[in-house]
Amino acid sequence: MTIENVIQRPVRSFVVRQGRMTPAQKEALEAAWPYFGLSLPPDSQFYDWQTVFQRDAKRVLEIGFGMGATLLSLAKSHPDIDFIGIEVHPPGIGRLLSCAKVMQLTNLKIFAMDAIEVLNRAIPDKSLDKVLLLFPDPWPKRKHHKRRIVQPEFVQLIARKLKSQGIFQLATDWQPYAEHMMSVMQASPDFCNVFGKEGYAPAGFERETTKFERRGEKLGHAIWDLVFQSKC
Ligand SMILES: C[S@@+](CC[C@H](N)C(=O)[O-])C[C@H]1O[C@@H](n2cnc3c(N)ncnc32)[C@H](O)[C@@H]1O
Repeated sequence: MTIENVIQRPVRSFVVRQGRMTPAQKEALEAAWPYFGLSLPPDSQFYDWQTVFQRDAKRVLEIGFGMGATLLSLAKSHPDIDFIGIEVHPPGIGRLLSCAKVMQLTNLKIFAMDAIEVLNRAIPDKSLDKVLLLFPDPWPKRKHHKRRIVQPEFVQLIARKLKSQGIFQLATDWQPYAEHMMSVMQASPDFCNVFGKEGYAPAGFERETTKFERRGEKLGHAIWDLVFQSKC
């Protein structure tokens, strides 16, 4: 038995796939990280967003931004809003940084680590206007369902981080995951469904199309969007 077998590892919603990074992505990681990248603050001091962004603006968090196309497009088209992204996939982080640098975005910061840790250790309570969770890994096999990021504790954590009446938008192309999301969200005492009890939003409601969404559509999958508002 190795030490790895003995230490209890938390169940994570991702497996870090290395993938291939282009030279531009590698260079961007080094050059742009000091400007766009955030690490966990020391000694459980949460970030003060006004200091980070040098202004007080609305704040949107995207969890699992993938290759970053949606987040980049949002940040470019809404210069009046500040955006925070979280991702663990190195090529996606590299690609986002390389584009953000070229686009000279001043309203975007990212974390390259598990969203659960970032939410627990870096993001102050009641500091976000909106959280986007677009096409999270569906973990279709029953034995992997525990890896799905949408669980009651996760939803409780999101509720804590949202401002009063903040929005949590989720989307998936995997029907069983959509049903799971709906049952967890409906059961939460912290949220109400903007589209009525058990109601789905129109597909793509007020958001950009994502890479994984296009992939799902090519496979003939339907799209489910859920939009919930925090109650207090
Ligand atoms: C299926 S992809 C979707 C990417 C993108 N949102 C899209 O729609 O194209 C899910 C992404 O979530 C990321 N992810 C999963 N769990 C995460 C976690 N706990 N923290 C940060 N990123 C996570 C994965 O690395 C992956 O890139």
